[in-house]
Amino acid sequence: MDAAEKISVEDEAVDKKIFKDCSKIAFYRRQKQRLSKKSTYRALLDSVTEGKESTRFQIINEAAKVPLLAEVYGIEGNIFRLKINEETPLKPRYEVPDVLTSKPSTVRLISCSGDTGSLVLANGKGDLKCHITANPFKIDLVSEEEVVMSINSLGQLYFEQLQIPPKQSRATKENEEDTSDDTTQENQEELGLWEEKFRNFVDVKDNGPASIGLDFSLHGFEHVYGIPQHAESHQLKNTSDGDAYRLYNLDVYGYKIHDKMGIYGSVPYLLAHKLGRTLGIFWLNASETLVEINTEPAVKHALTQMGPVAAKEKGRSQTDVHWMSESGIIDVFLLTGPTPSDVFKQYSYLTGTQAMPPLFSLGYHQCRWNYKDEHDVKAVDAGFDEHDIPYDVMWLDIEHTEGKRYFTWNEKRFPNPKRMQELLRSKKRKLVVISDPHIKIDPDYLVYAKAKEQGFFVRNHEGGDFEGVCWPGLSSYLDFTSPKVREWYSSLFAFSVYQGSTDILYIWNDMNEPSVFRGPELTMQKNAIHHGNWEHRELHNIYGFYQQMATAEGLIQRSKGKERPFVLTRSFFAGSQKYGAVWTGDNTAEWSYLKISIPMLLTLSVTGISFCGADVGGFIGNPEAELLVRWYQAGAYQPFFRGHATKNTKRREPWLFGEEHTRLIQEAIRERYTLLPYWYSLFYSAHVASQPVMRPLWVEFPDELETFSVEDEYMLGSALLVHPVTEPKATVVDVFLPGSSEVWYDSKTFARWEGACTVKIPVALDTIPVFQRGGSVVPIKTTIGRSTGCMTDSPYGLRVALSTKGSAVGEFYLDDGHSFQYLHQKQFLHRKFSFASGVLINSCADKRGHYPSKCVVERILVLGLKKQPSSVTSHSPDGKAQPVAFTYCAKTSTLNLEKFSLNIGADWKVQIQ
Ligand code: NOJ
Repeated sequence: MDAAEKISVEDEAVDKKIFKDCSKIAFYRRQKQRLSKKSTYRALLDSVTEGKESTRFQIINEAAKVPLLAEVYGIEGNIFRLKINEETPLKPRYEVPDVLTSKPSTVRLISCSGDTGSLVLANGKGDLKCHITANPFKIDLVSEEEVVMSINSLGQLYFEQLQIPPKQSRATKENEEDTSDDTTQENQEELGLWEEKFRNFVDVKDNGPASIGLDFSLHGFEHVYGIPQHAESHQLKNTSDGDAYRLYNLDVYGYKIHDKMGIYGSVPYLLAHKLGRTLGIFWLNASETLVEINTEPAVKHALTQMGPVAAKEKGRSQTDVHWMSESGIIDVFLLTGPTPSDVFKQYSYLTGTQAMPPLFSLGYHQCRWNYKDEHDVKAVDAGFDEHDIPYDVMWLDIEHTEGKRYFTWNEKRFPNPKRMQELLRSKKRKLVVISDPHIKIDPDYLVYAKAKEQGFFVRNHEGGDFEGVCWPGLSSYLDFTSPKVREWYSSLFAFSVYQGSTDILYIWNDMNEPSVFRGPELTMQKNAIHHGNWEHRELHNIYGFYQQMATAEGLIQRSKGKERPFVLTRSFFAGSQKYGAVWTGDNTAEWSYLKISIPMLLTLSVTGISFCGADVGGFIGNPEAELLVRWYQAGAYQPFFRGHATKNTKRREPWLFGEEHTRLIQEAIRERYTLLPYWYSLFYSAHVASQPVMRPLWVEFPDELETFSVEDEYMLGSALLVHPVTEPKATVVDVFLPGSSEVWYDSKTFARWEGACTVKIPVALDTIPVFQRGGSVVPIKTTIGRSTGCMTDSPYGLRVALSTKGSAVGEFYLDDGHSFQYLHQKQFLHRKFSFASGVLINSCADKRGHYPSKCVVERILVLGLKKQPSSVTSHSPDGKAQPVAFTYCAKTSTLNLEKFSLNIGADWKVQIQ
């Protein structure tokens, strides 16, 4: 048995002791200790200089040896950027590259004279200002005379300046006497300045302490969201009586839920929302980061005030957010909204929008660790056809390779990968295979040998290649932070290089936190060395981002720039949305994990990552049939829809749980395929207009306080409200239908509900509570095929749900579903549907696009039509009027136009009289 065989997942099962809580993190302890001593910073405003791009000044406190340099930038689109760094550090401090899509365009800030001791910087229009107070140093962000955010008003600015290492080497610890001027040995350990211990690991820090921190007070805000990834609620919780939210990418098998420990990915970006204003704070730092949240609700504030008048004036809620990072610089973007949609645009202006996914990737994905061999794949594939269940993608996990050597095939199990892909291709299906960042140390393995020869691995503290254990046994890790390594890695996906690959093969990047078995917290030592001589600690959270970037680039290049890639990653950072999809890792087959998938995905969605999903069924353990059905139903309405299961679990293909359950799963998947045109159009909107696909209710109803804490249901786009059933044996669910001027329609029964109320919806095992918002048009497919590719020519339907005013609007987007022609040649179709005064109009939404389609709209369903029409007439593009056959149901107020046939891409009208 080789080392690889001995590695089993169970060895790595979650044991919280393996991971640090805040008390075990030295920079956290240091900041707490120092901040309790309060030494405030002051700004030296007589040092102000106005550069071409930024306004600079120095800030200093008693403890600092030399002043720090602060820079304030105005950025296009109502964004401010604040950078704080040492003016002349001993050596450069890490500034996160490659996340901002380009250098943000700056706008000139006009400095208006403040009072003595202050400086006011205003944007061109003068409606947004940064009010800088010198002593103590503080910045107020003022919008239309209202202070919406204060920075450092709690005096938590913290900046450890780089120092020359103490003379004594820590390697000769016994002789160590005088490692610092004012601290005892015990205190040294506590502070972990040059060395930090955790379990059996010692982190030797050549650069010494370098941590940073800053506080932000959000005035009038009690609802904050974002900073994924945690298995926690969507609305962030107070951390005052427990651990801070940790952002440190870790491989946490079977992670505990309702916990603030860091898991696979990090997006250091927080959103705050209150009536009339949404804000964002994007803390651009890739080192280990902690975020403390302290919300004082309005009531509590009011109670602590003296007298009712004061209470009224001062009884505002407030949320304080305290960011702390282990190293790097303070580089923070303040996104001033004012609407949720504006904040989404501001964030994607900086980090990019969701990549436009190939259409197939919005279908259903079938995965398992592992499908054994080609025969197994063939049988599972056939199972879908036998049971008439559509699916698009077959997945192969690590066992498809020769000893976990990525880019190879296990010859016994998969002797003819091309033949297998041809089978899938014949049904217009695809294959995804896994490719992890660790590379087996084996001189006969070409990928290893080449990488070794070229020095492409991360190095250890001593200068050799970093070695750690992962699935293949002892491995080295590709240094994806190096552009050269990425370029080379991308080239490995070329068809001529990747033997057995074809153009229907796509990629899954896993274990890229990176996961290092037996490493500290199951990851890489922080003093490993990357390209440019940067320590791993500086960039830990962005490692996985780079792998997905290189993989996506490789897939684009293998097609000579023509085809859109699909890459799923487990680890991610701000901006990962540009490269593909993300999933929530190793969840468990329990109801609570199904339930938490909703807030976890909502959080990813508002932080730019629209293409996200959770393993359907739960990765670990064996779901009972009811849970599996409910999970398929929920997953069908989540952006990335993949069934997956770990090794040693019972097989759970959709048809293995009896006829009835098979039918229910089939129905859920078919609902997904019915709605594909809507999904695809939503992804287009995420891609071009930065709007999340899956939206918390507060995003769609920002003026309705009741929506701010809802997280058991959500909107898909602006038209569908989904409330998945996440309780066993449910017979009824309480669905909150927001909006006092809204109406909602049950998508199955067509029952109509007025908004702003909670309704009890009876549910059977076949019920997926989905409601269409009055005022919307949802495009659907009326015929389902084996896969998305088989449905290209199938007809469309429109579901028109009328508002209280009897109107509705909707959009539809179509292109070839796979190439970049939509971008380079404008080969796309973007249509707009609008219904008013009894007339439904199909018109062009974007004249730049051209994409001929043979498809017709063959069915139109109008919900909420109060009166039976006397006639329905269609007016085709050539002006011809024709009567349309219809049925009207008075009981449900629905009108059905069935024998309809007008091209989806043409201008036409339907008149209902
Ligand atoms: C961990 C991943 O989270 C899981 O999805 C995968 O099946 C295993 N690694 C094996 O590759």
